[in-house]
Amino acid sequence: MTCRYKCGNACDQPVPNTSANQHVQDVITTALARRSVLKVGGGALALSAVSSFAPAAAKGNGAPAGAGLSRNLGATQFSPVPPNTHDDVTTADGFTSDVVIRWGDPVVAGAPGFDADNQTPESAAKQFGYNNDYVGVLPLAGRRHLLVTNHEYTNEELMFPAGRYSDDAKRKIAIQSHGLSVVEIVRDPEPGGYTVRPVGKAPYNRRITGTTPFTVDGPAAGDARLRTAADPTGKKVLGTFNNCAGGTTPWGTVLSGEENFNQYFGTDGALDTRYTASYARLGISRTGDSSRKWRLSDPRFDLTTEPHEVFRFGWVVEVDPYDPTSTPVKHTMLGRFKHEGANVTISRGGHAVAYMGDDERGDYLYKFVSAERFDPTETQQAKKHNMTLLTKGTLYVARLTGDGAADGVHDGTGEWIRLTTDTESFVPGMSVVDVLIDTRLAADKVAPTKMDRPEDVEPNPVSGKIYAALTNNTNRGNSAIPVDEANPVAGNKHGYVLEITENAGDHTGTAFTWLLLLVCGDPNDAATYFGGFPKDQVSPISCPDNVAFDRQGNLWISTDGNALGYHDGLFRVPLTGAKRGQVQQFLSMPTGAETCGPLISEDQLTAFVAVQHPGEKGGSTFETPASTWPHTDAFPRPSVVAAYRA
Ligand code: FEO
Ligand code: CA
Ligand code: CA
Repeated sequence: MTCRYKCGNACDQPVPNTSANQHVQDVITTALARRSVLKVGGGALALSAVSSFAPAAAKGNGAPAGAGLSRNLGATQFSPVPPNTHDDVTTADGFTSDVVIRWGDPVVAGAPGFDADNQTPESAAKQFGYNNDYVGVLPLAGRRHLLVTNHEYTNEELMFPAGRYSDDAKRKIAIQSHGLSVVEIVRDPEPGGYTVRPVGKAPYNRRITGTTPFTVDGPAAGDARLRTAADPTGKKVLGTFNNCAGGTTPWGTVLSGEENFNQYFGTDGALDTRYTASYARLGISRTGDSSRKWRLSDPRFDLTTEPHEVFRFGWVVEVDPYDPTSTPVKHTMLGRFKHEGANVTISRGGHAVAYMGDDERGDYLYKFVSAERFDPTETQQAKKHNMTLLTKGTLYVARLTGDGAADGVHDGTGEWIRLTTDTESFVPGMSVVDVLIDTRLAADKVAPTKMDRPEDVEPNPVSGKIYAALTNNTNRGNSAIPVDEANPVAGNKHGYVLEITENAGDHTGTAFTWLLLLVCGDPNDAATYFGGFPKDQVSPISCPDNVAFDRQGNLWISTDGNALGYHDGLFRVPLTGAKRGQVQQFLSMPTGAETCGPLISEDQLTAFVAVQHPGEKGGSTFETPASTWPHTDAFPRPSVVAAYRA
């Protein structure tokens, strides 16, 4: 059921990357011959690699000896949650969790209370959307904060009572239930929990939906392929959808990735033959309908009627939550693919560097380096120059080269390959705009490494190292996607976490070293690896999806689709010292739910998670759901949760 609604059964379709570019395996021989060259700069990361945003107070790692039962989530010891199948958010002993906001709760003035039997597009546009994913929390004053969440997709079988709504009504409500929410929350006086501020007292609150106006910027703005009958400028788009993960920028905005956007477009006519290759590379290759049939309620989603609307999705979008009247932006300079998210750090030289994953089996890792420098004198509440950083720069794709199995570690060197700047393309036969609109096709030509569904790619603010969640890829090991040192498990069911170290700690550089920190799965499985930590002392983990960090520099991992038979969860992993690789489960999810948007609060007291798609299992319906979490109704409601020491 999740496959059907979340990504349009992407795994049942042919892998869209049919390029014959090099694999790691193919280049090992060459690499070994050049080893002395490739190893240059591949040694230990200098501590100066720490970005300018490393918290000054950060030191140490993991749970230091004697940390005991601190409230500090980065420092405290806890006993891991045993793998389980409870229909609840289950926290480690001594911790508790509260629901902060649920699907349907009022967000903006005039929003009615939720009523499952009387949903309308108008009410959905004012209420908290469905299937919360990314979670960002930005400071206001004192205990006041702004919670920014994505609403990735809808599941009509769980949202609507059978027979109550027409298909057209369901589609129109669904379009308004996508997008993002900005919600003011207040930390409770007793630290840990958060309460939504009354809507009438929350002037920043905002809903962005499938019809909210966006501005397009960057080199592809206004290109003929982005122009439609309704928008001859090619610079004004209505809406965003399938917003998966994202990133909160150092200048006080939130980035959000438009991921499986292809499933919203369909036709019962012919596809425009000018775009056959472009469509196919994103999974649009059949004349036939999308699973969602939005075209029947809005013709802009019909590929025959409007072949260009689809080019206006698949971007990274930026929202300024501090200005509720601002028009959100689609940044074409960060390329167009199935964006999981985008996480920005500031390089030593002041450039904004965004790391990104393209969540598809056999697709790539990317980074963007801004041309302009970050202005640290601008405040998060009032910024101007920093809002332009993602419009000009250089887009790169990653090639990983293994150094062979003899050392017993899945590791090697890597290269960021230039695709384009805002003025010059480095891909033969493709212009700057071609590269940005058809980024996958451009990348195919420069031989990057096919990865196993790259999801979150995020720099650790303490160490400067980059961590990428590679969720799974059941096709790994077939002839089109052979195993290689970076993707070593055939039929990869449980995924990996990749650690990247930029050479000399330079986020703007083009050379890096890498290793697999985690080869996930049952620790009893010989193929698994937990950073070298004893396998009999770790929690089983499967399908890492999103990552976060605390001020101690620990990695937090949320999972999506646990293939070990247990519910998904949130896990903490120290990255340095004797406890490196000690995976410990901090909480687990209700039935059918994925753990999304993990975030450790600035004060380290709260772990935020978005409980996405509770009850989403085959056969589950509104009337007979597989879950009733959060147990406030007879049906499940995706919600944001705050977990903290009781
Ligand atoms: Fe929406 Fe990449 O998971
Ligand atoms: Ca090796
Ligand atoms: Ca995800």
